[in-house]
Amino acid sequence: MTTKKVVILPGDGIGVEVTEAAMKVSNSVAEKFDIKLETEEFSVGGASIDKYDTPIRDEVIIACKSADAVFLGAVGGPKWDNLPKDKRPEIALLSLRKNLGLFTNLRPVKVFDELISASTLKPEVIQGCDILIIRELTGGIYFGKPKFTEPIEGGHKAVDTMAYETSEIERISKVAFESAKHRKGKITSVDKANILVTSQLWRQVVTDISKHYPDIQLEHMLVDSCAMQLIRNPKQFDVILTENMFGDILSDEASMLTGSLGMLPSASLGQGVGMYEPVHGTAPEIAGQNIANPLAAIASAAFMFRHSFKLDEAGKAIENAIQKVLSNGLRCADIIENGKTAVSTTEMTEAILREIK
Ligand code: IPM
Ligand code: MN
Repeated sequence: MTTKKVVILPGDGIGVEVTEAAMKVSNSVAEKFDIKLETEEFSVGGASIDKYDTPIRDEVIIACKSADAVFLGAVGGPKWDNLPKDKRPEIALLSLRKNLGLFTNLRPVKVFDELISASTLKPEVIQGCDILIIRELTGGIYFGKPKFTEPIEGGHKAVDTMAYETSEIERISKVAFESAKHRKGKITSVDKANILVTSQLWRQVVTDISKHYPDIQLEHMLVDSCAMQLIRNPKQFDVILTENMFGDILSDEASMLTGSLGMLPSASLGQGVGMYEPVHGTAPEIAGQNIANPLAAIASAAFMFRHSFKLDEAGKAIENAIQKVLSNGLRCADIIENGKTAVSTTEMTEAILREIK
């Protein structure tokens, strides 16, 4: 039997509950496919600040580096919002992304027929919508230097820097073109090339890479226009390739096509270990009440089996189970239709486990 080492980082808020759900499902699937998960759990984000006075400890990064996969819930919450910027829970995420070299963030946005009424958009606009957002995750304005705040006369001056190098754009572009091969074969590269020099370089490099992929259709779109097109006609998109901050914003917007951020999984990949996490945050207002939707976390576990363990079948088994419970009418509070009763986090998880067995 093969053993896979998984580092579990539940984090804060509902991150804790949905991680527990996803790991239960992972263990059950692992058993079915004859692999053993060896898990090690650490605090990160606010939980780590409370215990160790730092959002993430070096030993956590070291453990992640030698694991086969990292599963993360979510970090942050109002309790830690007023800390100095190097002490904020979000630093844990950025540090993991940078230290593990996770330059690719995959955020699929797939509209389930069963959930069409959960979206605020018209059914005919979203039905059949299936987009893969590929977000660059270790560059751009999140990490660019200089980054500082300094006092000036009459107030302060704050500076963030957006920077990209050819090699960073090349490697994420290749991921996008390879992914598009297994999909409808179309890439929309999103930038702000009418204003930003980073975007002009981005557009140039993506175009150069596209020459190696004659069968893939490439179009360029400005980010403001993309934000508009995403709700006007989302079905025009197949793969959306974009830089870090644009990807952050567009993926939250795109999540609303599915009706809830509670449905979106993600994978962060690089050359080594992969990290899997639901796109939703810590939702402090509903934390600890056993009402959070665990499906995004469970779908992230499917990603883990696929990408880190190379077990496509196991990933499929989880995704089929999600599809099945939705067809059976089970809904958590975030995607509930009027007049129906929502199931709890644990009830949803149990239902998934029954489908898997
Ligand atoms: C996300 C989150 C993070 C980001 C925050 C928590 C740092 O919004 O993963 O989308 O901005 O990347
Ligand atoms: Mn975000």
